[in-house]
Amino acid sequence: MERLENTNTKPFSDYTDPNIDSLLKHSIRTQLESLLQSKVSVGQRLELLQKSFVEAISLILSDTKVTHQQLVSAFENMYDQAVQSMALAELSQEVLTRQYISDTGLIMSPYNCKHTIKDVYRIKGYARGIDKAIQSKLKHKSKINILYPACGPFAPLLLPLLSYYKDTQKYSAQQLQVILVDVQPGAVMTLHQLVKDLQLEDYVSLIQEADATQFEPDVDIDLLVLEAMQHGFTKEGQLSIAKHLVKFLNIDGWLIPQSVSIRGMMVVGETEFNQQWKEVDYSHSTNMTKDAKEDRVELGEILSINKSSLLNMPILELEDGVNVVPANKVTLPDGVEDMSERFLAIYAHIDTFAEESVGQYDSGITHPKPEMSVYIDSRPREIEHTHFVANSGDTVQFYYQLSGLPGFVPVKV
Ligand SMILES: C[S@@+](CC[C@H](N)C(=O)[O-])C[C@H]1O[C@@H](n2cnc3c(N)ncnc32)[C@H](O)[C@@H]1O
Repeated sequence: MERLENTNTKPFSDYTDPNIDSLLKHSIRTQLESLLQSKVSVGQRLELLQKSFVEAISLILSDTKVTHQQLVSAFENMYDQAVQSMALAELSQEVLTRQYISDTGLIMSPYNCKHTIKDVYRIKGYARGIDKAIQSKLKHKSKINILYPACGPFAPLLLPLLSYYKDTQKYSAQQLQVILVDVQPGAVMTLHQLVKDLQLEDYVSLIQEADATQFEPDVDIDLLVLEAMQHGFTKEGQLSIAKHLVKFLNIDGWLIPQSVSIRGMMVVGETEFNQQWKEVDYSHSTNMTKDAKEDRVELGEILSINKSSLLNMPILELEDGVNVVPANKVTLPDGVEDMSERFLAIYAHIDTFAEESVGQYDSGITHPKPEMSVYIDSRPREIEHTHFVANSGDTVQFYYQLSGLPGFVPVKV
């Protein structure tokens, strides 16, 4: 596949060979430390940091046309400044690079998470939605509580927005109180440093080191902001976290995103992942080609996640203690001539709030993920237990597995 200029900065897989691990950790710390040797004074650094956060949000909230390049450079600038706060937080190598699988999903290291602040169109879809949701809530209430679990070291869906509110005096700390939660000690250390550097302490009521699937806020929550997803709705614990925390929303509280729709399609890999991107500079839903869209065989929605589906979602416990959520049934269409040459790809469409969204290809989290272990009208050379084999016309029931490796399990009905 040709290399695209990539705005999808969330890494898909970050396991390191243990033999090179210590060398890599050494170079990571050295890189971070060298950032601090720049010649700017403390006052200048804070000014540049705060300015970069305000500028990035001003661009994405603006209704006038902003180019992709303008956005990318504003977000790169915000990242360059935020990483200096991370360096100042003095995380040990172990704290900086520790990555592991918990009972409910991948816990990415603070080092790997730092890139998510550059994921332009994910932050755009969320921040514009959050801004509208806050405006709407504050019409009826004088003060609201916002909970942002699994926020990572830079809490990029909220801290830039808060910097903008403070700078423009749009909303005060008396109106907005934010709780930040992350299970990584290194994320929490960085958050303390960054919130202090951005002078946002008044807006942040709590920075808590905790597993978001266990955390219980001691105030009623008006907005729950959550993004703990990877492509194909795999790996990270979005569903487990959302299912637990949705209970703490006020009766009229909102989950942001208001809905996540996970969908399946049968694609020809060359058309979907290569040809349609040949003539464009970057991957984005608006850059998809008509031909590629028409070539897909859409299977429909596999799972829909919103406040009400979460509150009513049954969980089945299997014999080995693994929990699964029944998702949708899909009937594989008959009469698609080249079905045996297609493979299943799973993608997400995220409606954050009002008409704001993160579409397929706008971010790594919505990027379609090929499911290479699913065979329709074809057979693998050697069948392994991880393979799923079905035929056109079959009905397939999807389940979602809530384990350390969350993801879909198709079953023939
Ligand atoms: C990809 S990063 C940051 C994503 C962040 N929401 C954003 O908007 O950029 C994922 C972060 O989620 C945290 N995380 C994942 N699962 C968690 C859990 N169950 N409880 C608390 N934090 C969690 C990890 O520690 C990591 O810092």
